[in-house]
Amino acid sequence: MFDEKKIDDLRQRLAGEMSEFRFRHTLGVEKEAVRLGELYAPDKIPLLRAAALLHDITKENTFEKQLQLCDELGIMLKGSEKSSPKTLHAITGAAVIERDFPEFADPELVSAVRWHTTGKENMSICDKIIYLADYIEENRKFEDCVSLRQYFWQEDICKMARPDRLAHLSRTLVISFDMTIRSLEKEGATIDENTTKARLYLVRNIPQ
Ligand SMILES: [Fe+2]
Repeated sequence: MFDEKKIDDLRQRLAGEMSEFRFRHTLGVEKEAVRLGELYAPDKIPLLRAAALLHDITKENTFEKQLQLCDELGIMLKGSEKSSPKTLHAITGAAVIERDFPEFADPELVSAVRWHTTGKENMSICDKIIYLADYIEENRKFEDCVSLRQYFWQEDICKMARPDRLAHLSRTLVISFDMTIRSLEKEGATIDENTTKARLYLVRNIPQ
């Protein structure tokens, strides 16, 4: 489904459709998703590449355009979603992939795009990889992103057994959700309930 030629064509198409800033970030997410994929899901690397390339496909749309897309795509928004432009691009992005990029609309890919901003309860390995790659890719300069990147990569993950690797990924995600919740609280913004649920699910399921 995700052969190299198709992914290369997609990358080229997106280069012409995004700002330079967004495209650089997108390539950073792709690179990071491949690194994480090598550790956690080597058989999913092509899917992860395509998901990374498409994850911010609607991010540069205005809020009005996002709402218009929801209208066109028959998306019913809940109250809190309407007031959160950041969350909205993940919802519209997933739906736009199904409509405009059907050749990439694998359910695992669509899910990774849908949940890359808020996270959710019981995330798949691809959901987790795209979420984390978006947070820690090399172009991210925010303090939280830099410190989370250092936290994750300071360990010699290659040498860890799989259960320890997965626990390390879960711990890293818990820290990221804590950071997100703290910064939303500071801004006085609404915390998406999926973020709280994602955090709680991980805390309950990290092997001791
Ligand atoms: Fe992103």
